[in-house]
Amino acid sequence: MKKILTVVGARPQFVKCAAVSSVLRKQYKEVLIHTGQHYDYAMSDVFFEELSIPKPEYHLGVGSASHGVQTSEMLAKIEEIILQEKPNAVMVYGDTNSTLAAALAASKVYVPLIHVEAGLRSFNRRMPEEINRVLTDHTSSLLLCPTETAMENLEREGFLRANVHATCSPEHPVILNVGDVMYDMVRITIRQIEKKGNTKEVLKQFGVVAKQYCLATIHRAENTNDVSALREILSAMAHIASKIPVVLPLHPRTKAIIERENIALPSGVSIIAPLGYADMILLQKNASVVCTDSGGMQKEAFLLQTPCITMREQTEWIETLHDGWNVLTGASASAIIAAYNNAQILEPDTQKQPFGDGFAGEKITQAIGTFIA
Ligand code: UD1
Repeated sequence: MKKILTVVGARPQFVKCAAVSSVLRKQYKEVLIHTGQHYDYAMSDVFFEELSIPKPEYHLGVGSASHGVQTSEMLAKIEEIILQEKPNAVMVYGDTNSTLAAALAASKVYVPLIHVEAGLRSFNRRMPEEINRVLTDHTSSLLLCPTETAMENLEREGFLRANVHATCSPEHPVILNVGDVMYDMVRITIRQIEKKGNTKEVLKQFGVVAKQYCLATIHRAENTNDVSALREILSAMAHIASKIPVVLPLHPRTKAIIERENIALPSGVSIIAPLGYADMILLQKNASVVCTDSGGMQKEAFLLQTPCITMREQTEWIETLHDGWNVLTGASASAIIAAYNNAQILEPDTQKQPFGDGFAGEKITQAIGTFIA
């Protein structure tokens, strides 16, 4: 049985890993490493419990630190485990420091690297995630893309589409469109929510009514480390809250900066702790609009047919911009408010489906069988 060593560490990776692991483990032995990049209950444990992710075989307990310290500590520990476990491949998700650390560790000891969510580009090299993505892709053997746009990005960087079923290697990487893994989890979770039939009650717990509230999140470095950007966003939230209720589950990074800078919380905005996965999907589906700087939420809002305002200058998920489902505003309060005023006029039947069919986990498992020796 092939052995796949999977490395996760940050909140969005737990969701992606949940979608893949349940299918992968039917055919392969998976060994799971949690780097400990995210460690709060609401940022980590809740996802393992709620999404039934198997307990990691290794927990590195790295925690928060500067990029260099955090990444290098993970790198050293992951290298040791790879040498000990001797997997057929190492698998990573997305674009966090945990992704990069595992990519460097695997490539230096010449173990094929599988990158799920390969080929995404914001073309903004000031984003730590962009550096993580580019370096991870260029050390990968099997690059599993969520969209055709991602495939085209990689072709422009010299990668070739797989046209023969030869095994892949660092010298002969293979690129493949398997669709988006987050779509799998949205599909499964929506079915569970519908089965439970308690949407009204859950919304009531958050003090809102379907299609009459805004759901907001803020956590990106560019929107939090830059305090004036954070103030702009919060003032836009206060304006929206004067029209409809705004629910803001607060990332610990943002919370810490608000406290450190003594920023007054916007009145009318309901600030709550980070949410578990099912509640997040339920709140996104029923919101009249989502305001976010998260990559995953732009896509989830799109799949759930909720208009989205993305408080960033660029997006890796350009498909969501077509027909106006998602609008980029940066951190400008006036742009966010203008986008909010326009966000009500969408027609669900204008939507295209660029993210596959919601069965990426199966396609990833199949690709491993085909391309990993
Ligand atoms: C990371 C990813 C980002 C992803 C996000 C999801 C990188 C470079 N960025 O950003 O791509 O969208 O995860 O949330 O890897 N903190 C806690 N408790 C936790 C985790 C973090 O308090 O469990 C606080 C700490 O103050 C920490 C800060 O949040 O310093 C930032 O955490 P970090 O993991 O470095 O980056 P994220 O902003 O979460």
